[in-house]
Amino acid sequence: DDPNTDPFEVAAAAAADIARLTGAESHDIALTLGSGWGKAADLIGETTATIPATEVTGFSKPALEGHVGTLRSILTPEGRRVLVIGARTHFYEGHGPRRVVHSVRTAAATGAKTMVLTNGAGGIRHTWKPGQPVLISDHINLTGASPLEGATFVDLTDLYSMRLRDLARRIDPTLDEGVYCQFRGPQYETPAEVQMAKTFGGHIVGMSTALEAIAARQAGMEVLGFSLITNMAAGIQTTPLSHAEVIEAGREAEPVISDLLARVVAAL
Ligand code: 6GU
Repeated sequence: DDPNTDPFEVAAAAAADIARLTGAESHDIALTLGSGWGKAADLIGETTATIPATEVTGFSKPALEGHVGTLRSILTPEGRRVLVIGARTHFYEGHGPRRVVHSVRTAAATGAKTMVLTNGAGGIRHTWKPGQPVLISDHINLTGASPLEGATFVDLTDLYSMRLRDLARRIDPTLDEGVYCQFRGPQYETPAEVQMAKTFGGHIVGMSTALEAIAARQAGMEVLGFSLITNMAAGIQTTPLSHAEVIEAGREAEPVISDLLARVVAAL
């Protein structure tokens, strides 16, 4: 977060650490695994190296259960190199947006041209059920923050690539999509905030992804986003929300959505 450091130099140093520790000179695809998506890493190919995030420049220990804190280099049967990021820094941890998007900038610095962002999130659409994966079609950044600094005017049209969403729907034609609203958290939204998000055109509420997607676009990567609906948002479901419920929904859905994600990655 030091304003005297260049975040892209820190990312380049992290990419050099990854190259040294994994033995993989570059990566083609990067994958950030949120709640419920972790098992996908085991299905997409052969893991050639697993490294603790703490050994890579600029990464911090994950604050949370359900977040593994490792980086993995995976070789797919198609011969692609996938960097799996199991160490996400959330904006609600109170670090600046630089820290939040460091993993994305690092992925770009390793050569990755595709950034797949996944998360566990709350659903606003009544037709959705907990355990359902949905494609992110666009986002509303309600954090009040940005990973961009200074006069960096980045176009966000088609941020969540139509091409990649179409590709995902060829794997699973039943996939629905929606607009993801990133709140700062860590508290869940009030029912009134959920109604606001709905009025704004949002369908999914969460605490990650939007800031990361902005940084990925700035780095010139093509972005694909998935949310696992772990629960309905406050006021949509009448029972109280809990982190335990989110983790449990993730665990139950994990086999199905991990298989989906692995098949999508194979098709990228
Ligand atoms: Cl309802 N809101 C937010 N912000 N994040 C979530 C969630 C809800 N459910 C899972 N993650």
